[in-house]
Amino acid sequence: MSEKSILDYETVDLDDGDNSVVIIDQTRLPGRTEIIRLHTAKEIWDAIYLLKVRGAPAIGVAAAFGIYVLAKAIVKEGGSGMEFEDFYVKFRKQKEYLDSARPTAVNLSWALNRMEQCCLKAGREEGKNLQQVLDILHKEAVEMKAEDIRVCRAIGENGLSLVKPGDGILTHCNAGQLATCKYGTATAPIYLGQERGYGFRVFADETRPLLQGARLTAYELQSAGVDVTLICDNMSAMVMGNGWVNAVFVGCDRVAANGDVANKIGTSVVAAVAKHYGIPFYVCAPTSTIDLQTPAGKEIKIEQRPEDEVTQMWYKERMAPYGVKVFNPAFDVTDHELVTAIVTEHGIARAPYDQSLAQLCGRKR
Ligand code: MRU
Repeated sequence: MSEKSILDYETVDLDDGDNSVVIIDQTRLPGRTEIIRLHTAKEIWDAIYLLKVRGAPAIGVAAAFGIYVLAKAIVKEGGSGMEFEDFYVKFRKQKEYLDSARPTAVNLSWALNRMEQCCLKAGREEGKNLQQVLDILHKEAVEMKAEDIRVCRAIGENGLSLVKPGDGILTHCNAGQLATCKYGTATAPIYLGQERGYGFRVFADETRPLLQGARLTAYELQSAGVDVTLICDNMSAMVMGNGWVNAVFVGCDRVAANGDVANKIGTSVVAAVAKHYGIPFYVCAPTSTIDLQTPAGKEIKIEQRPEDEVTQMWYKERMAPYGVKVFNPAFDVTDHELVTAIVTEHGIARAPYDQSLAQLCGRKR
């Protein structure tokens, strides 16, 4: 019997019987594959904040399952006589709490807002009882997971049309299966190409400081049999200069209406170097990551993280002097002028993005 690969595990799942969100604890990978169950609001919040579950789409689905689990607990605690409006006050409080876990990935608030709309429509507009409201929330969360898989596959098909067999592809951070429910976004063209014998050569940036590229992307691509080479972040210019890269594919946490994109810190450096060498820089994003309410990248809130992630986490000993000032933003914004195209499930958007993104989102509705 062949050994189970990391790709055989569900990134995010729901155990309805156990009232829990089930995730792979990604902080333990690749050394240990630990499946953990999240029952309480604090456990779900911590898992998102600590990056046990991470990547914009996976965070969204975890939050959708999470608010459903918490809604069930509210109803259980409220007893059979509970009114919808009393339930909703508590639901909304839990929703806002989960939403506060990480600010940059729009999928978190997108997923929670979608669950809230469902809840209000069923309970307030249609007068459904609380059990029926819970059933509808359950259905919606399960659908969001299924939708994520379909969306990522469609991004993969669209992304694959931009490259050819044997190409070298560079990626930053992890926008892989571990960041979604299957396929990933930036890795979706790579996985589909792998199924079809394209023989891509992939370069994975290690992605300081939390090493999502080394711990997650290199691991999942290697497990799928993809030809992947791990490089430190400061090597991407050399690899591109050597002519080894035909295209860059990255994921994204929020796309502003003008096409500026927030993604893992270091992405904008990769984009600038790619432009220097004339290499196309593609951003893969589900339309749920496009935030037309945010006009430009400078409006996107960038998460700042603890300094020990830079100075000592991952090292046996601290690697910086005590007391040194540390700047540790989790994301940066890549200017739309550096973005060759934004690959979504509904098609490929190119400049001028203020028009093409609005059109794509209109098509979605
Ligand atoms: O801090 P992380 O690991 O959640 O950051 C993840 C990224 O930046 C990904 O590229 C992005 O969320 C897209 S995932 C499909």
